[in-house]
Amino acid sequence: MNNRRVRTIATVLCLNIMIFAATGFAAEPLAKERSRSHLELDPENTGTYTGMAGKDNYIGNCSPCHGLTGKADGPLADSLGEGVQPRNLSDATLLSTRTNEFLFKVIKSGGVSVGFSESMPDWKDTFTDKEIEQIVQYLRESICKCNYSGGK
Ligand code: HEC
Repeated sequence: MNNRRVRTIATVLCLNIMIFAATGFAAEPLAKERSRSHLELDPENTGTYTGMAGKDNYIGNCSPCHGLTGKADGPLADSLGEGVQPRNLSDATLLSTRTNEFLFKVIKSGGVSVGFSESMPDWKDTFTDKEIEQIVQYLRESICKCNYSGGK
């Protein structure tokens, strides 16, 4: 190996180390950011808490029809057409007859997939399955404050 070649290899190695170091430093604050917001959502850090994670997606996408607290009183509620109203998702009596799987399906695949109105859109191109699960959790914990208790 001649000297020049050795120098070239040394330079390439050096550059690699510098790039690695730079990206390593850049990635660190991001990782901290992520773990902080994760802790806010999951103060006990159990890794199982998903409810509040669905809140923003609910407010941003569902509340225009279903309303901020689920009472079917969002700004679009009365514009869906003759006789069509969003469902009152704060109705614990109704929602406790629905399984989480059912809620997941109507959200992911839309009203028509379960024989409801096509005014209830499908969200499969908007949200991942995980995000839909988080919305279902949010409905349970903060909107109907209820769980499935049998029935239909
Ligand atoms: C454009 C208005 C609109 C938007 C936006 C909308 N929905 Fe709906 N949703 C409806 C309507 C209308 C129905 C009732 C359909 C019927 O009565 O046949 C419905 C029904 C439902 C049901 C069924 C309740 C039951 O009886 O089991 C669930 C759950 C639901 N929506 C959740 C959501 C969620 C979660 C979002 C946001 C990701 C959302 N909806 C966004 C209009 C909307």
